[in-house]
Amino acid sequence: MNRFTNLLSNWNNKPQYIVGIMTGTSLDGIDTALCRLQTIDNSITIELCHFMCSEYPTTMKENIVTLLNEPAPISMYSHIHHELSRVYAQCIRDLCTKSKYDMNSISAIGIHGQTLWHDPRQKNCTLQAGNGEVLAKILSIPVVSDFRSADVALGGTGAPLVPIFDKEYFSSDTDTNIAINIGGMANITVLPPRDSQTPIVACDTGPGNVLIDALCMKYYNIPFDNNGEYARNGFIIHEMLQELKSHLFYRTPLPKSTGREFFGQDYADYLCKTYANYPPNDLIRTVTELTAWHITDHIARLSNNPGTMIVAGGGKHNLFLMKRLKENMPQLSLCSSESFGINSDAKEAMCFAYLCYRTLSGLPSNIPSVTGASREAILGSISLP
Ligand SMILES: Nc1ncnc2c1ncn2[C@@H]1O[C@H](COP(=O)(O)OP(=O)(O)O)[C@@H](O)[C@H]1O
Ligand SMILES: [Mg+2]
Repeated sequence: MNRFTNLLSNWNNKPQYIVGIMTGTSLDGIDTALCRLQTIDNSITIELCHFMCSEYPTTMKENIVTLLNEPAPISMYSHIHHELSRVYAQCIRDLCTKSKYDMNSISAIGIHGQTLWHDPRQKNCTLQAGNGEVLAKILSIPVVSDFRSADVALGGTGAPLVPIFDKEYFSSDTDTNIAINIGGMANITVLPPRDSQTPIVACDTGPGNVLIDALCMKYYNIPFDNNGEYARNGFIIHEMLQELKSHLFYRTPLPKSTGREFFGQDYADYLCKTYANYPPNDLIRTVTELTAWHITDHIARLSNNPGTMIVAGGGKHNLFLMKRLKENMPQLSLCSSESFGINSDAKEAMCFAYLCYRTLSGLPSNIPSVTGASREAILGSISLP
């Protein structure tokens, strides 16, 4: 019996230590979460053992930005696909060294990869860099990667994949909860009470931090609006807000997901040029207002009498954005995912450890009512050591 069949034969009998790696659209860093997962009475428990956010090596980040923003040679994609796995391997080594954890005890690794393209509706495709085979061979640990393709192959949008995680950890017995993640993009999951027959609804709602970050970089040469202070000191440019709100994405029916293809550097550059006569803080305030608006507008349209908004992702640290979310929906309570026992910075990395665990347990992870896929599927490609 090889190490993999041996692993699966014992899979459900004991806790599994799984690493999840998330690299989101913000490009702010590489999130690595070591989690302990176990199946108990048909539920999957998850406990975060160690978490680390590592900086992207500078040239790697520059290469990714080049790939995202301009036509680039295919050799560059191929190079990043391979090299990113080496970077991920180093993150896992660093995590083990820092936490004094024995790497041999890790059962498997789940990687999201770095999205380079995601446009399943128009072009029927999604592409994440980070090669599972390379990582599995470097560390001699099974890797699950490319979680989105199976759903896209079944006619789905391949995103968001986090709703199954939200369902497991943020559902209530009595209320409709809303899980919100504010990363580069923002997404929501509307979670009906646990035993309800109402289907889960979820989607990306629009740009989360990506426009705020781009404007901070352009005007102040810093990567984000720390605690939302620039926005707090700016004024809404009403004409700009109206224009931003008129983007077709917000009215696009579900299922829908989005990325830097629509809300990337070009869009930010256009805004800076068009509204160049206004103070920078007013532009930052206006895109912050946009994020608060599209999240709460989608919640209002997609949910019936919701109870609590549960926020995770880096946007949680933007205190002004949190204030505007709460003001837009005063009737809802607002809390961070910590209130439900999930570290809000580690949530998405934990989610990919969870998805990896489900795949190796033979469980499907997409929710067809969310993505539009024709059926449920076990997600990801498995790479063996
Ligand atoms: N202290 C802070 N104040 C305001 N925004 C913050 C702060 N810390 C992080 N962020 C925002 O969170 C983003 C990273 O969020 P993250 O959830 O990692 O997104 P992604 O999944 O796209 O990588 C940063 O780019 C930044 O915009
Ligand atoms: Mg991030």
